Amino acid sequence: MEVKEAMLTRRSVRKYKSQAVSDEDLRDIIDAALYAPSATNVQPWYFLALKSQEAMDRFRVILGKTVENFIPELQKRFPDNPQVVAETENFLKNIGGAPVCILAFLLKHEDDDPNYKETFTKLQSVSAGIQNMLLAAWEKGLGSCWMTAIVNAGLGEDIRGEFAPDHGSLVAAIAIGYPDHAPKAPKRKEGRFKII
Ligand SMILES: Cc1cc2nc3c(=O)[nH]c(=O)nc-3n(C[C@H](O)[C@H](O)[C@H](O)COP(=O)(O)O)c2cc1C
Repeated sequence: MEVKEAMLTRRSVRKYKSQAVSDEDLRDIIDAALYAPSATNVQPWYFLALKSQEAMDRFRVILGKTVENFIPELQKRFPDNPQVVAETENFLKNIGGAPVCILAFLLKHEDDDPNYKETFTKLQSVSAGIQNMLLAAWEKGLGSCWMTAIVNAGLGEDIRGEFAPDHGSLVAAIAIGYPDHAPKAPKRKEGRFKII
């Protein structure tokens, strides 16, 4: 698959088949993240793939709290669209049945160093790694969904404590699995670029 095709056809997948993802594919996907650009080549990331039933069960317990914290906010934001709220709630409860979830951490934790000022560039570097993973997964026919709801709901620290206490701050969780639906591309907004 050409890179441009992957970029245009990739979608956020919120419903997955139970089919397992191979370790080989997972390693390839994470490898793509490790080759992303990073500011001053610091490579400030740590990726943890949750795959075993036991790890995913522990993750789902924390996800349950996300639903409690996040859904009231979503109801306020979409008062006339209960379908969006219901779909999101359903997705957040078990990440759409995804068999794998990759946690992306920004390696250094701000609490460790009050003078730590580089979060802005480091966050961009981790994000570049995440995007590489979405595209590498899609090339293999695997769907994904980049999720920050768990962080927005204030549960990043719970995830960090549970899974990677020494590996920085949680940036996002990325669901990975074989798609069980084919989402349409949400409309792209006009007027968001100019060439001068
Ligand atoms: C930083 C970031 C955070 C996101 N967080 C969530 C999330 O918490 N839950 C979710 O369902 N989708 C999440 N998404 C996916 C977006 O909703 C999705 O990318 C957008 O609607 C465009 O759809 P597409 O990915 O299919 O092109 C996130 C995407 C990004 C880049």
